[in-house]
Amino acid sequence: MAEHIYIFDTTLRDGEQAPGYSMNLEEKIRMARQLETLGVDIIEAGFAISSPGDFESVEAISKAVKNITVASLARSLKKDIDAAYEAVKGAESPRIHVFLASSDIHLQYKLKMTRDEAYERMEESVRYARSLCPDIEFSLEDATRTDLDYMCRLVEGAIKAGATTINLPDTVGYASQEDIAEMVSRVRNSVPNIDKAIISMHCHDDLGLAVANSLAGVKAGARQIECTLCGIGERAGNASLEEVVMAMKTRPDLYPYETNIKTEELFRSARLLSTITGVKIFPSKAIVGDNAFAHESGIHQHGMMANSKTYEIMTPESVGVVKTNYVLGKHSGQHAFRKKLEDLGFVLPDSEVAELFSAFKNLCDRKKNITDRDIIALVESTEHNSEKKIWSLVSYVVNSGNKMTSTACIDLQKDDKVYEGIASGTGPVYAALRAVEKIIRHPFSLEDYQLQAVTEHRDALGEAIVKISDGANVYRGRGVSTDVIEASILACLSAVNRMLDGESASITGGSSAIKMSFDNDMLMGHTDKEA
Ligand code: KIV
Ligand code: ZN
Repeated sequence: MAEHIYIFDTTLRDGEQAPGYSMNLEEKIRMARQLETLGVDIIEAGFAISSPGDFESVEAISKAVKNITVASLARSLKKDIDAAYEAVKGAESPRIHVFLASSDIHLQYKLKMTRDEAYERMEESVRYARSLCPDIEFSLEDATRTDLDYMCRLVEGAIKAGATTINLPDTVGYASQEDIAEMVSRVRNSVPNIDKAIISMHCHDDLGLAVANSLAGVKAGARQIECTLCGIGERAGNASLEEVVMAMKTRPDLYPYETNIKTEELFRSARLLSTITGVKIFPSKAIVGDNAFAHESGIHQHGMMANSKTYEIMTPESVGVVKTNYVLGKHSGQHAFRKKLEDLGFVLPDSEVAELFSAFKNLCDRKKNITDRDIIALVESTEHNSEKKIWSLVSYVVNSGNKMTSTACIDLQKDDKVYEGIASGTGPVYAALRAVEKIIRHPFSLEDYQLQAVTEHRDALGEAIVKISDGANVYRGRGVSTDVIEASILACLSAVNRMLDGESASITGGSSAIKMSFDNDMLMGHTDKEA
């Protein structure tokens, strides 16, 4: 029987640390539930001591998922280990993940400790963690630049002190496959009690070798891979979950191992991450990118028609890429629309289907051919809208040109009243967002703004993703429309509603690509009207 490889997902810890990937509590829980459906063995839900928000989300995820191990990271400090345990103790299967750097460069410059002092710290921390919880992972940070003899001493000591998993991270993404194979073999051959622990790989992608190195580790005897959806993580990221899993599934001749991953959930999981964070999946991304199964050249298309195996080493269906072969249009009814949603993998309550159907009908008035991608964009734009609809768009007029200052006049509705705001700016989006700010009377700055076409054609839907900040927190919103100004206003309103709805919708961090603050000097009128 093929040996099992444990998939340890750190999307919500190492991944979430990366700029632009911050999530709020509700989003993290949604992501964790999808990871559970995907079939990962362990979710690293966060770094409990790092902030009250992280603690709260680790604790909430621990209670939200079942049949899965939930881990929290902890430095080799009592207060970290206590926080980690407090946060995960409600999980069906809790794990404390303790780490300590082991390379001389980290010991000397970062920890200012000798090897012996670090050994003692490790022993003390692992023993303490084990006194709280039976499942302890110990990571030797910067393992791939650690002296191998010292590594073996630490590993043996950690297992004696109670560690059940030993993680050997390539923290800086420096190692080659040969280095990894040598390191794992050395630990397996020289550490007398190594049979009492599982060896884990945690590879960063600075040289683009994270997946290859993780697989090299497995070939040498590691039985756990730490990875993230789409390979997100510190700097160049971690090994991508979908790539390590599909490599093993597609090449059992090289990797005769099995995982619990339901590969048909890979595409949906990656899309959920993208929907939640507003970060697009790179089109050429292996396994889950839009082009991963697209065959553009004539020669390839010809081969595919003759036999898909000519150019496809795995099927799109095996990773959950769904394509339907019927088109909806303005004459399609709600029944057909629901069937399309289901075929695309969205099983939604009646109320949401009704809301989406009305958005679909509006779209039909503006766009002739409604593609699957359009429908997915509609779903994603509402999936994000768990916020209360405090403000909604009634109408807007924007004037813009290359020889004039742009002006926007917007009507927004709140309860049963319509409010009008007029503002100017250096461009139409700027003017529109200032008018929104003027109406809601709540200052915010624009932290990030992305606009892109959902499909190729001239009448394509535009999708805007907006991140705003009220100074304390960042809020994300998404809007789609055939009109990019409308998409931008809708995205802004979605973020505004989350901001006004309170803390639970806020995300920490966020990109600082664009920062404009809507100072009051150029704001113009504001009037209230009865709806
Ligand atoms: O890259 C790394 O070394 C880590 C550890 C904390 C496991 O993320
Ligand atoms: Zn890492």
